[in-house]
Amino acid sequence: MTPKTRVGVLISGRGSNMAALIYASQAPDCPYEVVLVASNVPDAPGLKLAAAEGIPVFAHAHQGVKRADFDKIIDAELVRHGVEIVALAGYMRLLSDDFVAKWAGRCLNIHPSLLPKHKGLDVHEAVLAAGETKTGCTVHLVTPSLDDGPILGQVEVAVLPGDTPETLAERVHYAEHQLYPRVLATLVSDANGPEAMLDRVRSLALALPAAAEKLSHGSPGFYVEGGKFFAYFSYDHHHDGVMGLLVKASGIEEQAQLIENDPDLYYRPAYLGPSGWVGIRLDSGDVDWSHIEDWLARSWRASAPKRLAMLPI
Ligand code: GRF
Repeated sequence: MTPKTRVGVLISGRGSNMAALIYASQAPDCPYEVVLVASNVPDAPGLKLAAAEGIPVFAHAHQGVKRADFDKIIDAELVRHGVEIVALAGYMRLLSDDFVAKWAGRCLNIHPSLLPKHKGLDVHEAVLAAGETKTGCTVHLVTPSLDDGPILGQVEVAVLPGDTPETLAERVHYAEHQLYPRVLATLVSDANGPEAMLDRVRSLALALPAAAEKLSHGSPGFYVEGGKFFAYFSYDHHHDGVMGLLVKASGIEEQAQLIENDPDLYYRPAYLGPSGWVGIRLDSGDVDWSHIEDWLARSWRASAPKRLAMLPI
């Protein structure tokens, strides 16, 4: 069975969205699990609920700690629990640029309005003051500017005559609890899909000196300018159903050894197999990206012209 994506939830208060994420994750086909709930408010009620459900919790008061230092504390905790995606759920703390950059594309937030309308605080007051007939909630990716990242999903909620900020907030909450788990599950499934995997491989491969990309027999290939190909992204090649990264081993002996030692991770690719290339599975649901980075660097070095291969990378 594919391992579930490890989600860390950050809260500052009640945590009803956190609860929705946790309870939705109990469905056998839910692609994520909540492995940590962390807070900048040690007595946030949501922490008690999470702990009662057996989820590790972490709290650290932010008062007196610089924003960047505080985020490092939270980040260290996320890393310690192997978190892959961060879900903000009523986390009332602006994030440092470093934190946002590190988790780019892997950090999402829920906001109680139909963004881009009514960013910031006191949203329901603003909706009523503006005489809106409908409002709603939005889940979006987190970027450096507040409540502004790409929108992943929205649910509309009607404004009723006589609504107060409290009555409206209550109905928007119902909608939030439906929306957040659904959007998170979709994002997680996509994050393990070929587009996201290729993006990640590409950013690592093209970070190597003089690396460039071109299609080769229908697969994205990465080569060293003036040198040879050092990696291919292979997806369902000839309908084998496999998603993997092809890199150069030192020869067929090493290739055979790798496959024998770890047959779940390594495979012998068609066509390039006889030339000593080895396939590394990217569809196991649990990719070790530093291992992929090491292989790319090694394969790059074996393919680069001498003057480049001497460069420290
Ligand atoms: C929600 O309305 C969410 O949209 C906003 O903060 C509120 C958190 O509520 N970001 P809860 O703590 O999840 O109940």
